[in-house]
Amino acid sequence: MGTLAIRLTGAARVFSTGNGRVPAFSGLDLEVRRGEVHALLGPSGCGKSTLLRILAGLDHLSAGELTLPRHSDGRPAAGIVLQDAHLLPWLTVADNVALGLRYRANRAVAAGRVDELLEVLGLAELADALPAELSGGQAQRVAIARTMLVAPPLLLLDEPFAALDPLTRRDLQDWLLRVRDLLDLTIVLVTHDVDEAIHLGDRVTLLRGGSRGTVGTWDTREVDRNSEVLAATRHDLLARYAATSDEPSTVVPGPPLGTNGGGRLAPVAAR
Ligand SMILES: Nc1ncnc2c1ncn2[C@@H]1O[C@H](COP(=O)(O)OP(=O)(O)OP(=O)(O)O)[C@@H](O)[C@H]1O
Ligand SMILES: [Mg+2]
Repeated sequence: MGTLAIRLTGAARVFSTGNGRVPAFSGLDLEVRRGEVHALLGPSGCGKSTLLRILAGLDHLSAGELTLPRHSDGRPAAGIVLQDAHLLPWLTVADNVALGLRYRANRAVAAGRVDELLEVLGLAELADALPAELSGGQAQRVAIARTMLVAPPLLLLDEPFAALDPLTRRDLQDWLLRVRDLLDLTIVLVTHDVDEAIHLGDRVTLLRGGSRGTVGTWDTREVDRNSEVLAATRHDLLARYAATSDEPSTVVPGPPLGTNGGGRLAPVAAR
């Protein structure tokens, strides 16, 4: 750890809507260290999914600079698990999970690992099932397994465990940490769950959304080991999270921005 995997400087994504130009976020600075799990917390609508999509190369910044690992053709070297599983309906669970291997074999992951992953995820009995036969939580686990198997250096997870029951969620959280160590992944994890952020995150950043940047970044690596520190960190994060959720959203008056980004935004004061 120590070197940076991601650096965002003065980053903004502004959408043109009927109400004017609405920043999902702006003035955002963020650094993710190589090999860490960096949890992103923040109220609904503060731009977490938008930021993750940009990190995956599925969307673009309106302003600011982004450095992250890239393939030789410029695409971000990142795998993303979205809130929806997006499984191919005509393939079985096992074939959906194995799909990534057809495109990018990783030596650390043997083909036999499909069976192991399905076992760990409690999906072994569903290996021959089709996506239409799965619950939402089961489908999401298949999606996580599929992305894990491809093992990109940068893994982007958008509330991947939100649909799972608490016991399965804790199993998967610990499994995720083991996989991170095994495959030397850098993980950016979006979650609404403060406890999940503290448990999984080496560091936790609380986003504010609009043009308000971040509240701050907490170092949570050793927090789990000391119950007093854990309680204090949890209390601090929850209080700041609640305060952030009460802040009004921001609309920037003026003409719509072009969709190709590039121009630097004028600083905008929060209302
Ligand atoms: N394509 C789009 N066009 C216009 N506005 C958009 C678009 N995508 C996102 N937004 C807006 O950007 C803001 C951030 O959305 P985003 O989905 O990133 O929030 P989020 O933090 O992931 O929320 P949640 O926690 O509910 O998933 C919201 O106000 C949303 O309405
Ligand atoms: Mg979201």
